[in-house]
Amino acid sequence: MDLNPKLILLLLAALGLAGISLRRYLHTRQFIRRHNCQPVTRTFNKDPFLGLDILSGTIRAIKDHQVLQRGAALHHIHGNTLKAKELTSTIILTIEPENIKTILSLNFTDYSLGHRLEPFRPLLGEGIFNTDGAHWAESRALIRPSFARDQIADLTLLEALSIGTLKKSQGELGFADAFQYSQQAILTRSLLGPLNAVYRDRKAEECDRVCREFVQEFVEEAVRAAESRSEKEKETGSETKHKRIFSHELASRTSAKERIRNELLNVLLAGRDTTASLLANLFFVLAKNPAIWEKLRDEVAVLQNRPPTYDELRGLKYVEYCVNESLRLHPVVPRNGRKAIRDTVLPLGGGDDGLSPAFVPKGTVVAYYTYAMHRRTDIYGPDAEEFRPERWADGALRPRWGYLPFNGGPRICIGQRYALTEASYVLGRMVQEFRELESRDPGPWEENLSLTVCSRNGARVGLVR
Ligand code: HEM
Ligand SMILES: *[C@@H]1O[C@H](CO)[C@@H](O)[C@H](O)[C@H]1NC(C)=O
Ligand SMILES: *[C@@H]1O[C@H](CO)[C@@H](O)[C@H](O)[C@H]1NC(C)=O
Ligand SMILES: *[C@@H]1O[C@H](CO)[C@@H](O)[C@H](O)[C@H]1NC(C)=O
Repeated sequence: MDLNPKLILLLLAALGLAGISLRRYLHTRQFIRRHNCQPVTRTFNKDPFLGLDILSGTIRAIKDHQVLQRGAALHHIHGNTLKAKELTSTIILTIEPENIKTILSLNFTDYSLGHRLEPFRPLLGEGIFNTDGAHWAESRALIRPSFARDQIADLTLLEALSIGTLKKSQGELGFADAFQYSQQAILTRSLLGPLNAVYRDRKAEECDRVCREFVQEFVEEAVRAAESRSEKEKETGSETKHKRIFSHELASRTSAKERIRNELLNVLLAGRDTTASLLANLFFVLAKNPAIWEKLRDEVAVLQNRPPTYDELRGLKYVEYCVNESLRLHPVVPRNGRKAIRDTVLPLGGGDDGLSPAFVPKGTVVAYYTYAMHRRTDIYGPDAEEFRPERWADGALRPRWGYLPFNGGPRICIGQRYALTEASYVLGRMVQEFRELESRDPGPWEENLSLTVCSRNGARVGLVR
């Protein structure tokens, strides 16, 4: 028989490929056996091929401002760990505290935020919020000292909280507007995925530039300040006393200007809208609950109209319950996710009962709706949908990984203590200043969902002295 050599080569290549996929298949099967995995079978897809029903459901929910409510309802009906097919990819959705602990902490190194880098890069560059591995660890080390207790405990800065952004000059594109638009563009880029190669948003490019230039001025100033300080210290041979300023601290630890700028933008993105949204959500709900305001008034009375010190603030337990309860009912980072970078396992969610370990193939996104988990009645009781600060009293509630407004594990929010201090301080001072808080909004709380979630109608309230 006269075989064409090209044909033989082709056959060999095909055999080789088949061998590789067979090896991969056997390897996967062994891995699944070894970990006692069952596949995740629970789903809410009716169209199992492209998941078009999910897509149309999602679009409807976006229009109705009910994405989070729908997520909670789907879990309530179908279970705590689900698979969902969206066009070409299958994702796993879970609101199981044990699973989230596994992703964020126990098997941290099996997952990445790699999918976050590209959509965020045009605004943030590379920094603590959107990198992984060594770059992230370096960012974290650079920033962490600025959030130590002694840095947070100085409350005098909070008393003059306004930075005058409402007084901005008319006409020119201000930083706040640019930052707003740039964030919206991040969401668009996340949704477009590979289509970004052909998609261009010139306004977003302009806004990114405005933001970076705005921050650049602070970088230059910080680097100058750090240089003159280290010169002074060389002369006097001792550390000079100085006010702690975040940008100056960064500049004292690195002189790489681009790095400082990127980290400043990263921290600004992580810390600005989150705290603002928490306060708006909190006041929205409090305005509809005069009895809670009364209880707050009673508690804060011990301060006799002085602004609280850090320790006094931490002693205001009912204030703490209110802040925690707001972050439970309306977690401002309401959904999140990680991508598996190797084959791995979740402890729960496999099999028809969802009680076996679940296999997570490399490349799968595991997403979680904190919003939905925070409304699980088996964790919070039958009144989980209600705003009831008292549920936090006496340490009766120990939700652990079932309460996750700030995430957990090595990437836990670095600003947690700072944000809680700031929010409690604002609440405490408002309670001191105003006898009553009245709602000026007859409607229910509705979502305005972007990277974070805030109240769609803001917090329209009346304040009575
Ligand atoms: C109520 C206010 C806040 C909430 C609810 C909140 C929540 C979160 C959450 C859920 C994450 C994890 C994101 C993820 O891994 O996908 C996070 C990360 C982060 N937060 Fe916050 N945050 C708040 C305020 C702040 C503030 C005030 C700052 C700084 C001034 C800050 C700085 C950061 C940083 C730098 C990260 C990234 C940490 C890392 O990846 O290592 N946050 N925050
Ligand atoms: C309130 O939540 C924070 C974390 O956000 C937690 O450290 C604290 O223990 C909670 N307070 C109570 C009373 O459970
Ligand atoms: C996940 O982490 C646990 C505890 O650190 C470890 O025992 C287990 O082997 C890890 N699982 C995988 C699939 O890597
Ligand atoms: C939703 O919030 C964004 C800011 O995150 C704001 O620009 C927009 O106007 C809000 N939309 C509504 C309908 O309130």
